[in-house]
Amino acid sequence: MKRRDILRVAAVGGGAAALPWFFWRGQQAFAGVPEFTRPLAIPPLLDGTIKDGKRVFDLRLQAGISEFFKGYQTPSIGINGAYLGPVLRARRGDTVRIHVNNRLDESSTLHWHGLRVPGLADGGPHQVVRPGQTWTPEFLIDQPASTQWYHSHAWHRTGEQVYRGLAGLFYLNDDTAEALDLPHEYGVDDIPVVLQDRVFNDDGSLRYRSGMHQRMAGMLGNVILVNGTPGAQLKARRRRLRLRILNGSNARIYHLAFSDRRRFHQIASDGGLLSQPVAMSSLRLAPGERAEVLVDIAPSDDVMLEHTPLELGSGRGMMMMRMSTGADAGPYPILRLSAKHQEAPARALPRSLVALPSANAEQASGEREFVLAMQMMRGTFINGRQMALNRIDHRVRQGDTEIWRFRNDSPMPHPMHIHGTQFRVLSRNGAPPEENERGYKDTVLVLPDETVRVLARFDQLADQGHPFMFHCHNLEHEDGGMMGQFTVERA
Ligand code: C2O
Ligand code: CU
Ligand code: CU
Repeated sequence: MKRRDILRVAAVGGGAAALPWFFWRGQQAFAGVPEFTRPLAIPPLLDGTIKDGKRVFDLRLQAGISEFFKGYQTPSIGINGAYLGPVLRARRGDTVRIHVNNRLDESSTLHWHGLRVPGLADGGPHQVVRPGQTWTPEFLIDQPASTQWYHSHAWHRTGEQVYRGLAGLFYLNDDTAEALDLPHEYGVDDIPVVLQDRVFNDDGSLRYRSGMHQRMAGMLGNVILVNGTPGAQLKARRRRLRLRILNGSNARIYHLAFSDRRRFHQIASDGGLLSQPVAMSSLRLAPGERAEVLVDIAPSDDVMLEHTPLELGSGRGMMMMRMSTGADAGPYPILRLSAKHQEAPARALPRSLVALPSANAEQASGEREFVLAMQMMRGTFINGRQMALNRIDHRVRQGDTEIWRFRNDSPMPHPMHIHGTQFRVLSRNGAPPEENERGYKDTVLVLPDETVRVLARFDQLADQGHPFMFHCHNLEHEDGGMMGQFTVERA
């Protein structure tokens, strides 16, 4: 296969990574018709093994060779495989023990994104696993059914390690979710969809860069992989599908829609099920965020999940938004869906899903402000500071509910993530959040000139030696300093 064939598959704007970021906008997509006949890879599902009443998982961080494109050997890294990792599945009430064995030739960490676990088990940049070592965190699963994930959180190396493959999904289940009439057969009607954009060199190797362009816009790719598959097709074996979508990209914000603009329903956000299905025809998903959606695929359907141009308002952030989303061109095909079944129209959707407590700002014991800023030559900042491993930025009392206010004083969007909690969005620029942002979340997009207030309860302990992180989930912004640390201590 020739280089131009590689580029023909799902080309996205933003591929000209070597160009200065401010010229990027003129360098749009590589033309071409993608084929979209590669069967979508479905990662292995691990339920672990039960030992001493605990659910035990064995994970190995390893290097390998992936064949993303026929005939091209791409060096990559993964967990128990060459690229990405298995889907781990656990239940509410389980005590989970995970052996993380590092067989790479560099240090790494594994962080359980979205899991409410103590700082000691969180896998942040302090919990380094050196080559040859094994780290064995243990924690109780005590949160609702949800689609979580895990990924490298290595100090200054998160962007590159995740880019090369160190990430996977972590499913949590519970009785409430199981009692609902929702698709739940893994790989059959309950489908993992990990979105990642990548750039490949002429020889098929992954290209990662961290120059000025990437420090500003983040590392953007020109090929969108789904579970590591470029040009992916899924032949649905059931009429109703549940897609568990993770934006596992370093920096790209997706604006997802189907090519025929059909309606679908979002049923879950980062932290679990919404109170009811939300009908929509497009969905914005920033790095780190998850959304579970239901979509019906009829026997005659042949439809594309796409990354579509954004409709942007005016404002100084508009050009930057375009840069980070490739909004001027497109749509870019991601995943082709057709049917391999003859099922009649699906049943009605459940009217309601779960009972969510109201997000009441009056529960808050206080409010903290986080001002997000960027400087061309110097990097990314929160409240004027860049992340330092030996500095605790905030101290929270265990059991407290607080309002955290993110004010974006920069021209780029920032998906802000908090460890150790699942929060509720209170407002965006004073207005209540959209319906699909009213459930539990751990990552929230803050647009230029926007102020987003969230309500978070902090129950998990994190001491000075093992603090929690809060940061932008644009991984180049994170590595570039837009991160801070906080402890949660006994009252
Ligand atoms: Cu998804 Cu601090 O991480
Ligand atoms: Cu996290
Ligand atoms: Cu950012």
